[in-house]
Amino acid sequence: MLILGLETSCDETAAAVIRAEKDRLSVLSNAVASQISLHARWGGVVPNLAAREHLKNILPVLQASLRKAGVTWPQIDLLAVTNGPGLIPALLIGTGTAKALAFYFQKPLLGIHHIEGHIYANFIGRPKGQVKFPVLCLVVSGGHTQLILMKKHLSYALIGETLDDAAGEAFDKVARILNLGYPGGPAVAAMAAKAPHLKSPLRDFPLPRPMINSANFAFSFSGLKTAVLYAVKKNPKILKDQALLAGICAEFQQAVVDVLVAKTLKAAEKYRPSTIMLAGGVSANRQLRDQLGKAVKKLKNTDYRIPALEYSVDNAAMLAAAGHFRWKNLSVRGRSQAMHNWKKLKTDANLKLA
Ligand code: KG4
Ligand code: ZN
Repeated sequence: MLILGLETSCDETAAAVIRAEKDRLSVLSNAVASQISLHARWGGVVPNLAAREHLKNILPVLQASLRKAGVTWPQIDLLAVTNGPGLIPALLIGTGTAKALAFYFQKPLLGIHHIEGHIYANFIGRPKGQVKFPVLCLVVSGGHTQLILMKKHLSYALIGETLDDAAGEAFDKVARILNLGYPGGPAVAAMAAKAPHLKSPLRDFPLPRPMINSANFAFSFSGLKTAVLYAVKKNPKILKDQALLAGICAEFQQAVVDVLVAKTLKAAEKYRPSTIMLAGGVSANRQLRDQLGKAVKKLKNTDYRIPALEYSVDNAAMLAAAGHFRWKNLSVRGRSQAMHNWKKLKTDANLKLA
């Protein structure tokens, strides 16, 4: 089965073709047009500018993904598109294009929750049957920080989530405070990696680990970001001194990782998952990948799964992967209804994971 994935929820226009075989999902192409340079000067994504870029890029990106995969439209068996959550003008370009294609080529179309896509990035390129349930998934992206328990495929119970900023959002805002540019996550992580070489005085600006000991599974990162702002106001030299800058980035990153790891372990203690999984753009963070991995290793009988780096941040292969699992789960009636999604599919900026 060949599945075409489309993603336009934020600032990446992405199209991918994957082949679903009996026991694995192989990516034949994964085309992404990034708008990072466009939004960088505004310090964040501007929805209408994003939509205009998606409109400009979507057909060339689609064409590139088909060409790279060496397939033509008649060979595609299923279309899978992000239909929320995200920026509505941006999402509509993806769903509008997918609907037109599904109508014209008479293909089934599935709308996929963006976070479901991130979760299913963990199933790309690996034998499908290997994941042991229940799965505890730590979702960390620009818009979400959630602990989700999956007892089986496509079943999600929310264990806890952030009360304010998402982890990725906090990285982005701290990067803005420190004049490190956008997107902030990779910039802060790269600066933090310099700390040992610059002999940065890590203890100079100790930052809080918000809610690390709270009795629930909630997170809060907005106070941590404000703590960085206060540290900079008190010591403006941080912005000019590379060693201090690297030091505060390393401390901030460690504070985020400490909280994420501690809360995931606490949830694991209660829910006893067989697998702990990482998903969303912040899963590209090396420290988080490594430190959570080390912590999971100490647990008995718990596997650890992280997405390949190229499928950690927004891409369309992950939507196609999720589309495959959704399709497999559909009844004959559900499959024939998917043929009518070119007119029925809804786009929802606040779509809930169900
Ligand atoms: O999942 P994603 O690509 O888009 C959303 O669905 O939001 O996540 C983007 C977020 C941004 O906040 C970005 O700064 C963060 O992921 N991010 C990182 C890293 N790479 C991306 N955060 C920390 N370390 C990274 N290496
Ligand atoms: Zn994302």
